[in-house]
Amino acid sequence: MTNYQYILIDRDERVGIVTLNRPKELNALNFHLVSELADALEAFDNDEEIRCIVITGAGDRAFAAGADIKEMSGKSPIDMMRGGFESWNRIRRIQTPMIAAVGGYALGGGCELAMHCDMIIASENARFGQPEIKLGVIPGAGGTQRLARTFGKYRTMEMVLTGANFTAQEMADHALVNRVVPKGEHLTEAIKLAKVVAAQPPVAVRLAKDAVNSAFETTLEQGLANERKNFFLLFATEDQSEGMKAFLEKREADFKGR
Ligand code: CAA
Repeated sequence: MTNYQYILIDRDERVGIVTLNRPKELNALNFHLVSELADALEAFDNDEEIRCIVITGAGDRAFAAGADIKEMSGKSPIDMMRGGFESWNRIRRIQTPMIAAVGGYALGGGCELAMHCDMIIASENARFGQPEIKLGVIPGAGGTQRLARTFGKYRTMEMVLTGANFTAQEMADHALVNRVVPKGEHLTEAIKLAKVVAAQPPVAVRLAKDAVNSAFETTLEQGLANERKNFFLLFATEDQSEGMKAFLEKREADFKGR
């Protein structure tokens, strides 16, 4: 298995787990960490045994407190362009569902990383925010766009223009967090949810993720066409035959991912 410097990799049955591992720096996302994260997620994405991925942060203080300010502070625009932001595009292209297990701070790039995931489970001590404005910049890993599409314009403006933090419950109240759990239980809860996803037929899961995501990226007409295409395509899978046959025979389906 690959040796990573800033992340830890684990697996629990069919769930791949990635832990951001710079707890002393509140798991700040330096370029190398984000590149390792993209490598690890792609490796899980290409691993037939892995059906769902959980991303979490080491320690109890943070999921990730954002991009590494120390690393960025002296950089020019050209340095930033060459610095590895492409890794974020690689993370965006992961087809396997990803769940963020957030305890403590998810700020800046940390909040944006949680939003790259498909579901978010947060501990009651989790705090979400886009504080970049206080540093003289703005979110650079999708924050303005993903927040606006989920949170709506007005709360997004408040978050991005003031840099204020929001509690896990506030985020859940506005549909940006799936579930708030007692402090310290976010990872256990995320893995439990991941196992439910991992038990579903994986080709259907990937095409379902693709269909839902098209709602954020296309017109309604194109999104509906994409959904219908994916729906028809699934009738070419063995899992569709097995799933429907098992229902009619009143037994558990045995999905093979084919
Ligand atoms: N980058 C680098 N180091 C960071 C960091 C970051 N984003 N966040 C925290 N750290 C480091 C601190 O420098 C400190 O290190 P030292 O012990 O060596 O001084 C250590 O982590 C612990 O942090 P604090 O002492 O600051 O802890 P605290 O409890 O007093 O405060 C906090 C916690 C409110 C999260 C505070 O650390 C903080 O405000 N961090 C920065 C948050 C931020 O601005 N994030 C956005 C970054 S920009 C970005 O993400 C751009 C993008 O869109 C991709």
